[in-house]
Amino acid sequence: MWDSLTFITKPQIQFNAIPESMNSADSVSVPKPSSKSSWLSAPTSLFLILIIPIFAATLIYQLDSFDPAPVPFSELTRHLIQKAPAQNSRMLRGAERVGYGVLLGPEDVAYDKRSGIIYTGCADGWMKRIKRNESENPEFAVENWVNTGGRPLGLAFGHHDEVLVADADKGLLNVTSEGEVKVLADKAEGVKFLLTDAVDVAVDGMIYFTDASYKYNMKDHVWDILEGRPHGRLMSYDSATKQTTVLLRDLYFANGVVVSPDQSHVIYCETPMRRCRKFYIQGEKKGSVDTFIDHLPGLPDNIRYDGEGHYWIAMSMGLSLAWDFAVRYPFIRKVMAIMEKYKLRPSVEKNGGVLAVDIEGNLIAHYYDPGLSMISSGIKIGNYIYCGSPIYPYMLRLNIQENPPIAAII
Ligand SMILES: *[C@@H]1O[C@H](CO)[C@@H](O)[C@H](O)[C@H]1NC(C)=O
Ligand SMILES: *[C@@H]1O[C@H](CO)[C@@H](O)[C@H](O)[C@H]1NC(C)=O
Repeated sequence: MWDSLTFITKPQIQFNAIPESMNSADSVSVPKPSSKSSWLSAPTSLFLILIIPIFAATLIYQLDSFDPAPVPFSELTRHLIQKAPAQNSRMLRGAERVGYGVLLGPEDVAYDKRSGIIYTGCADGWMKRIKRNESENPEFAVENWVNTGGRPLGLAFGHHDEVLVADADKGLLNVTSEGEVKVLADKAEGVKFLLTDAVDVAVDGMIYFTDASYKYNMKDHVWDILEGRPHGRLMSYDSATKQTTVLLRDLYFANGVVVSPDQSHVIYCETPMRRCRKFYIQGEKKGSVDTFIDHLPGLPDNIRYDGEGHYWIAMSMGLSLAWDFAVRYPFIRKVMAIMEKYKLRPSVEKNGGVLAVDIEGNLIAHYYDPGLSMISSGIKIGNYIYCGSPIYPYMLRLNIQENPPIAAII
């Protein structure tokens, strides 16, 4: 069913589902001396007010079994950071929301050029189709297409009119043109996928996909990042033999994946490492790994090729002092993990956005905004970039012709 929906132009973008700010930290009750007959001297009560919470926090810290890796990303401090020669640091200005309230957590975005339909996977399990017609008002109609019963993340078009889905809960799926959902793979080498994340299809039909973690699922993915150990894999699925092959293991939160336009390699993003690498699938270098882009100005998520010479890499968040400290000091990651458990984690996700990178891996442009977090995908359709996010109840789009990046002082 195609529902027309109101399309809001130039809205005020609001924060949504950003983790609650720090509050109610005073969960330990301290005996309150009555105003008249104080049975404790002021210094003693001050001592108790300070020492009890510290003692409680220390105890919680000691008892918690979470064990982050010691400085796994030492080379990743903020001093090593690539800056784009052109930037739009206020991409919310002029941005528009697409499908507000209907597209809940649209993580990945895929565009079918032939039909002009945009596909996305939502937090409620629905794969939604967005029909776009520039000469109509509203410009978009959204259809609940297929519910995977899981959490659809990455999407790619197959060679038989099917959509291949990296479903965080279910694994690699084949959603046929008739809307049938079939599981192609949910484990490899006997190890089950816990967070199937992204997928792309080569011209020869081979499917490449990632499982970000065999240890933490989608709901707990923050712990994987904070733990800082490699639980991710890059894999291929051959539909002729129904064979899943592990191409690379021990990846740090293996995220976005894309086949290069010349079909010689696959690029995959490792989120906490702030890098994307090449895995060669053809030629002399077949089977080897090479750098594509390092020291990104944020944490990469999905990567897409636009057919016009650029990759678009979504930045789930930019860099911050808090992240810098977390990278350096495992105990800070442990504190963050504990705070996460008690839903007290301060929001460190800011400056989400999207990068344009050329075929050679040169950073060309960076679009971001302090008010954006958890941007998970960016694709270019015409003059627009469309961005998905697992937390916003809409897709974001920006006309980059009208809101171009400007030359940055580097
Ligand atoms: C877009 O809408 C116009 C006006 O309703 C219609 O004539 C045209 O065929 C539509 N285009 C597509 C691609 O659906
Ligand atoms: C998905 O299912 C369709 C319909 O059965 C089939 O034609 C197609 O080859 C399948 N795709 C893959 C990659 O298995």
